[in-house]
Amino acid sequence: NRCRILVILLVAFGAGGAYHVIDERVCFPETFRFGVATSAYQVEGAWNVSGKGESIWDRYTHDRPARFHNHQTGDVAADSYHLFKEDVKLMVKLGVNFYRFSISWSRILPNGFSNQINEDGIRYYHELLDELIRNNIQPMVTMYHWDLPQYLQDLGGWTNPIVADYFVDYARVLFQNFGTKVHAWITFNEPFSFCERGYGGLDAPGAQSSGFEDYLCGHNVLLAHGMVYRMYQKEFEAKLSTSVGIAIEFSWYEAASQSSDDKSAAERARDFSFGWFAHPIFSKTGDYPPMMRKRIDTISKLQGFSRSRLPHFTPEEIEMIRGSADFLGLNHYDTNLASKRTTKITPEPSFEADMGVLISKKSAWPEFDSTGSKVVPWGFRHALNWVKEAYDNPLVIITENGISLEKGLLDKRRIEYIEQFLKVLQLAITKDHCNVQGYTYWSLIDNFEWTSGFSKRYGLYQVDFDSPNKTRKPRMSSEYYARLTRTKCLPY
Ligand code: NOJ
Repeated sequence: NRCRILVILLVAFGAGGAYHVIDERVCFPETFRFGVATSAYQVEGAWNVSGKGESIWDRYTHDRPARFHNHQTGDVAADSYHLFKEDVKLMVKLGVNFYRFSISWSRILPNGFSNQINEDGIRYYHELLDELIRNNIQPMVTMYHWDLPQYLQDLGGWTNPIVADYFVDYARVLFQNFGTKVHAWITFNEPFSFCERGYGGLDAPGAQSSGFEDYLCGHNVLLAHGMVYRMYQKEFEAKLSTSVGIAIEFSWYEAASQSSDDKSAAERARDFSFGWFAHPIFSKTGDYPPMMRKRIDTISKLQGFSRSRLPHFTPEEIEMIRGSADFLGLNHYDTNLASKRTTKITPEPSFEADMGVLISKKSAWPEFDSTGSKVVPWGFRHALNWVKEAYDNPLVIITENGISLEKGLLDKRRIEYIEQFLKVLQLAITKDHCNVQGYTYWSLIDNFEWTSGFSKRYGLYQVDFDSPNKTRKPRMSSEYYARLTRTKCLPY
């Protein structure tokens, strides 16, 4: 391995000879930044401590225990609410440039309303931010990582446009209180995940309205994002030196065959997942992907709806949303095969039928993680190039990439995973000129992996969830990552 990376070439020119050292190490630009990520519900615990209000994940884990691995909840999780100083020490050991974490809306505003501030929540995040800054770690803060205040869910959650207004109020509280300490803001994490799974019956709030409320959720989330960005520009940009973006998940979809049917199925899959949220913000048109628009309009009509199930933006809303991000946060984990799915149109709305794609994995792709999911690094390069082509090479930060493995400290496979994805990322930057300026490993520590509970472990540090003090232990991959952050080159 060492030989492969560092090749010393001896070129002899007669007796005295001169030699050249060709360093083939995989390195990133000096300015490239490495980080790690977590989210509030997955690590904090303290679900009802010091005035925190209930969120939809508190409600969902408590009301629907059978949905969760071993009936587990995030009530205590990794207890980062109490152990955040320990977490920061781990980050110092890793030598990361930034930490991506999320703020729990209901810890700051128990019911979601900006006129009822929970001072303990404000104090907690100030302490965390101060600890990071003291240690030279830039805070990258997600405003919404899926934990809506339950009170707002009772008003209809993201299907109700009023929630977008409450989100703007919440964002204003965040800019006012933490604006000078935060390096970069992310309005929403993976809107596709929480709209599609949340309204497709899998995740909180557990609503069953695929092909209808998922689109309403997406629509209001896009409006909320645009409104926050414009509010930031108007009220804070002149005073604060920070940036505002959004984190969108982009699994790559490769056509299962060379047939034109499968090729357009793959395009549809990209449009219905990533494009759904990226297109309105990053494309020139500032609207949903045209193919998505057309299919849902047509199918809605055939089903007898008098309006498309995918709502329309007004021209003013399009103007507001278009270009409303300083950077694109990209979460990438996965590649899938896409082929055409022929479904009969029934009166029942369904996201799957709208998309019309069969999704599978190629059996020849290597299995990697604890769930047997496949690891296909070249799909990552395709995704990065797709973004470059479609949206005129925007500034991209990889806001998540990672792997879950079994419990244990000798996680060689995680090291292999990181190495494979970073090699591809480096090529995308140096050869394809994709404008990617940072990489975030998910996750700093093992945490509550939603419905999979503690069974899926993503951490560079292991957490012993059975121990009273939630002991953190370094995995082999943490040493690897520390060498990477210090040299900006893949370690030998
Ligand atoms: C997506 C989500 O943002 C995060 O919450 C989750 O834990 C990871 N990816 C891994 O599934």
